[in-house]
Amino acid sequence: MVKEWLVAAGPASLDIAAGLASKLGAKLAKVESVDFPDGESKVKILDEPRNKSVAVVQSLYPPQDKHLFQLFLIAHKLSEDGADVTAVVPYLAYARQDKEFLRGEVVSLGVISHLLRSVGVRRLVTVDIHSAQGLGLFSIPAYSCSAIPLLAEYAATNYKLKNPIAVSPDFGSSSRVEAFAAVLKSEYVSFKKTRDRTTGEIVTEEQKLNLRGRDAIIVDDMISTGGSVAKCAELLKKYGAQRVIAMCTHALMVGGAADKMTSAGVDEIIASNTVPSRYSKVDVAPLIASYFQTL
Ligand code: R5P
Repeated sequence: MVKEWLVAAGPASLDIAAGLASKLGAKLAKVESVDFPDGESKVKILDEPRNKSVAVVQSLYPPQDKHLFQLFLIAHKLSEDGADVTAVVPYLAYARQDKEFLRGEVVSLGVISHLLRSVGVRRLVTVDIHSAQGLGLFSIPAYSCSAIPLLAEYAATNYKLKNPIAVSPDFGSSSRVEAFAAVLKSEYVSFKKTRDRTTGEIVTEEQKLNLRGRDAIIVDDMISTGGSVAKCAELLKKYGAQRVIAMCTHALMVGGAADKMTSAGVDEIIASNTVPSRYSKVDVAPLIASYFQTL
């Protein structure tokens, strides 16, 4: 039986929450959010959630910790008032810290898992989590939908692509680029990238590729500083690519990311709306709604 949902919009995700509520034919619960003069968050739930299944939508783009804490406050209150709470977190911050890479590092995603459960969250839905292993850190059911096929459809519809090749900037995104290429019915390739865990410096290995006159589409889960895409784009241009399009689910675009990528030869940047920006062209609300319709 399809459940009836109430959708609560966290302050970071009003649009996605409204889209999800509309797709599900669900009521959009009112959540009032204000900041005290010293920056502390205060939220107030203006609907009665008792005995309801409530989807709290709150993406964790910067300021991540602020958005995370608002999510904790909303989920805690809903749960305390008798709701069955699902956290819908389109961009799950801290997902890259899913293991102790260097001795002494905190597995931050494990802490988030623990805290979400402790504030009463019963399940988590996210979009393109950094790595599937991260889901294993959750002691509540956790599910990641993928916006990659939607990004591929966007590319197919909006660009006259010339003999396209989909490119993963590292082996971590190989399955994503494969899924992208399956929609485009194109070739795909994965580059080998290594990152110095202390300095952050990126090295991308050369490949033997001739891309003369072809369009290359770099596909990744996220763009942060733009360094990974820039290294990859430089090589694609060197191999003759006529156009380089960078597509990702989460465009954090930190500092001068866009300039760095453009200088390296990137012609277009396209992303989903998990992190709102001028690059957000693909709406994930219908994708998240289709997951809820299976429940
Ligand atoms: C790393 O493995 C991720 O999939 C992204 O490639 C990375 O986080 C992007 O970061 P930046 O844009 O800073 O290179």
